[in-house]
Amino acid sequence: MRELLILTALFVYTTCDTKDYKNKRTKLIQDEFKLTLGGNVNLTDKETAVNNCLMRYKINELDYGFEHPEYFNLSHHYFSFRENIKKSKVYKILKDMPKGAALHVHDMGILGPDYLMNITYMDHLYVCFGSKLLLQFAHSQPDIACTGKWQLMKEARRLSNNVTKFDADLRKHFTLVVDNPDVVYPSITEAWKAFMNFFITVAPMLSYRPVWEQYFYDALKMFRENNILYVEVRSILPNLYELDGTVYAPLITAMAYKKTIKRFVEDYPDFVGAKLIYAPSRKVDTKTVNEYLALAKLIKRDMPDYFAGFDLVGQEDIGNPLVDFVPELLAASKELNYFFHAGETDWYGCQTDENLVDAILLGTKRIGHAYALLKHPLLLRDVVHNDIGLEINVVSNTVLSLVRDVRNHPLSMFLALDLPVVLSSDDPGVWEADVMTDDYYLAFVAVASKVSDLRMLKTLALNSLKYSALNETSRVVAFEKFNNKWNEFINNFDCSKY
Ligand SMILES: *[C@@H]1O[C@H](CO)[C@@H](O)[C@H](O)[C@H]1NC(C)=O
Ligand SMILES: *[C@@H]1O[C@H](CO)[C@@H](O)[C@H](O)[C@H]1NC(C)=O
Ligand SMILES: *[C@@H]1O[C@H](CO)[C@@H](O)[C@H](O)[C@H]1NC(C)=O
Ligand SMILES: *[C@@H]1O[C@H](CO)[C@@H](O)[C@H](O)[C@H]1NC(C)=O
Ligand SMILES: *[C@@H]1O[C@H](CO)[C@@H](O)[C@H](O)[C@H]1NC(C)=O
Ligand SMILES: [Zn+2]
Repeated sequence: MRELLILTALFVYTTCDTKDYKNKRTKLIQDEFKLTLGGNVNLTDKETAVNNCLMRYKINELDYGFEHPEYFNLSHHYFSFRENIKKSKVYKILKDMPKGAALHVHDMGILGPDYLMNITYMDHLYVCFGSKLLLQFAHSQPDIACTGKWQLMKEARRLSNNVTKFDADLRKHFTLVVDNPDVVYPSITEAWKAFMNFFITVAPMLSYRPVWEQYFYDALKMFRENNILYVEVRSILPNLYELDGTVYAPLITAMAYKKTIKRFVEDYPDFVGAKLIYAPSRKVDTKTVNEYLALAKLIKRDMPDYFAGFDLVGQEDIGNPLVDFVPELLAASKELNYFFHAGETDWYGCQTDENLVDAILLGTKRIGHAYALLKHPLLLRDVVHNDIGLEINVVSNTVLSLVRDVRNHPLSMFLALDLPVVLSSDDPGVWEADVMTDDYYLAFVAVASKVSDLRMLKTLALNSLKYSALNETSRVVAFEKFNNKWNEFINNFDCSKY
């Protein structure tokens, strides 16, 4: 009897103890979720209905992957699954969802190879198939050294006998996508080499002035069609030219942006607009950086409403670190807003991740990539304290060899810590991604927590306007336009459509 009593007491004690433990456990998980990006947002009833649909599909995809990790395609190379994800219901919903702004994209990397192929059908394009592919618009044969011979593209295509094959071969120069990426891109060196070759090849074709203007107009159109309403474009501002050989200064390239943005917003008044970030190469000397900064100030003076600020670009590990240009950048920091690429690297304790130190000390408004940020707790503190937006480009980071299995992308920690994250696409045309949607899909399905939902997505979209370079008046307008689009999306949502 006594033994039984003790046993009963023990039993009661343990269940009570387990219950208490389970409560604590549940609370801990809930509290932690509330700390994640968007975890504390409240959804309306209609948003909740959309969320239930979205999450049913997301959980389905993830449960399948969890049970069959060998079929979890998103853990492989992006090129192996980029076509397949377009069939996902989650993907289709994200494509339709208003995504706010694209704050990190590069001039010539926005539109894909099919668009570039169309340009090769234009009149007056010359081509030289030498050791490198050279392309140039001109009235007559270009006076540019070439290891083969210059001929009109039209002629070359006609003489090829097989246009299908000719075009298929030409198209390969306009994309990084290949069938065997693990063989072609074994390391960052091969990936960046192909990436740089892409720009070297297309730049002379795209910097023909009418093409440059039309390209950006069509890029804005493509953003708009993908439910983005504002863009900040980084450009190296190449010298534009005319058929007769006239070459313009980079200031004219900046003006071409302004002209095109104005034309686009007139044609599509529901679009908020675009601004330019002047972002030339980081692999230069101090004198050149001073020239860049002088030009940036000139652009700011001439078109203040269309100019966001300054950045330096190029493969960070092999380019010059920001610290090399501190006196110049510090002096100009009173006049210019900075949006530095920094910490786009797998290295730790090297000059590349230390670019984060200089970006922050120089007062950067946002950081491009910030991939190495978690390795620097004091900088992390500054990012939170100064509310510095982090421009995360998941697809770019995986294509350019920083991470293979995107579940390991530091964005998962950024989201867990509710850092000021915005998603963007970097150079979607170069890897044939649908602008923003592919990045949202990977971030949402593979990087974020399985339970992160529409609250996170809405917060990411709102963040893109919050951390934009719009002034307060324009930002209010942008939020208004976004809310209209968002409500339209929510009100017209039909789960059975997907
Ligand atoms: C959401 O609702 C909860 C409970 O009503 C409230 O405590 C919380 O502050 C709300 N969150 C926001 C962001 O409004
Ligand atoms: C993974 O990719 C293969 C090949 O494209 C495809 O057949 C399969 O359906 C994909 N799996 C999932 C879960 O999407
Ligand atoms: C290329 O041109 C064709 C014919 O004008 C057009 O139908 C197609 O949409 C264009 N493709 C792109 C990607 O712009
Ligand atoms: C043209 O080239 C394509 C692609 O290489 C090939 O499939 C096709 O058979 C060729 N057509 C002719 C007529 O040779
Ligand atoms: C804000 O930006 C808009 C659009 O670029 C511009 O028209 C307006 O003058 C700006 N307002 C201020 C106060 O700078
Ligand atoms: Zn970039």
